[in-house]
Amino acid sequence: MRITGDSVRAIFNKLSRLYNVDDFNWRKYHVTYNRQIMDITNEFTLVLSKDEYQIVEGKILLNSMLSPLHPNHKLLYETIYRLNPKSVLEVGVGGGDHIHNLHLLLPEAKFYGVDISQNQIDLLLHRHPDLKNICRLAVADVTKKDVLNTFGKVDLVYTQAVLMHVRRGNRHILALKNMFNMSNYVVLMEHWARHNFFDDITRIFQERDLLWPELNIYKNDSGEQVLMILSRKELKEFSPLRSNEELLKYIQKKGDVVLRK
Ligand SMILES: C[S@@+](CC[C@H](N)C(=O)[O-])C[C@H]1O[C@@H](n2cnc3c(N)ncnc32)[C@H](O)[C@@H]1O
Repeated sequence: MRITGDSVRAIFNKLSRLYNVDDFNWRKYHVTYNRQIMDITNEFTLVLSKDEYQIVEGKILLNSMLSPLHPNHKLLYETIYRLNPKSVLEVGVGGGDHIHNLHLLLPEAKFYGVDISQNQIDLLLHRHPDLKNICRLAVADVTKKDVLNTFGKVDLVYTQAVLMHVRRGNRHILALKNMFNMSNYVVLMEHWARHNFFDDITRIFQERDLLWPELNIYKNDSGEQVLMILSRKELKEFSPLRSNEELLKYIQKKGDVVLRK
C-alpha cells in the first residue's frame, strides 16, 4: 500500500474521532498549515491584489493571467461582500489571507481576528505585516465563554475550515453559541459532512441557548459549493436553507474534495 499524506490524515481523522480529540494538535499545526498553503498556491490565487480583480454584479473576476480563487474562498468573499457588514470577526484566522482579501473588498469595515494558536497569529503577521494596522488580533479559543469579551459585539462573524476540525466533545456547539451571541450574522464555510450543522444550530436555537430573538437560515449556492448564512433578521437576497442534506449537495463520498486547508 502506498502511504500518502492523505492516507495518514484519513487515519488520524478516524483516530481523532475514536479518541475524541480535534483533528490537529493546534500548537504544532502551523507547520502543516504552512505546507498546505505552499501546495495550494500552485493551483489557486490566495491573496488578492488591488489591480488584479474587478467586482462585477457582486462576483469577483480575476485578471485572466491569474489562477482562480479557491471556490470556497470566492463564495465566502462574495457572500460577505453582499452582506456588507460594518464589522467582521474571523474565527481561526490562520495565515490571514481572508482578512486581507475582505479588507480590499470592504475597506470601510472594521476587522477582528482570533486564533487559538499564537503560532498561527505569528504566521499571519509574517504573511501580511500590514494587517497589524488593519485589524485587531487576539489569541482566543472560540469554544470558551470569555471569547465574547475579547472584542465585544461585531456585525458578522465567520469561519472557514475551522469548526469542521473541532471534534473534541461538543465544542463546535459551544463555539457556535459564542459566535451567535456576539453578532448579527454568522457565515460558515465548512466541510458539511463533519458535523450536522443544520440540526445542531436549529437545536441550540430551540433550546433557547441563543440570544437571537429569531433565527433565519440561508444558503448561498455557487454551483460548486454551498455556504451557510445565519441571520438575526430576514434577508430577501438569499434562499432559505431547509435541511442539512442541502449542504451536502456537492460532497462526493470518495475523497475529501471540499476543503483541505
Ligand atoms: C484549517 S485552519 C483554517 C485557517 C483559515 N481559516 C483558512 O481558511 O486558511 C483552522 C484554524 O482554526 C484555528 N482554531 C482551531 N481551533 C480553534 C478554536 N477553538 N478557537 C479559535 N481558533 C481555532 C487553528 O489554529 C487554525 O488556524
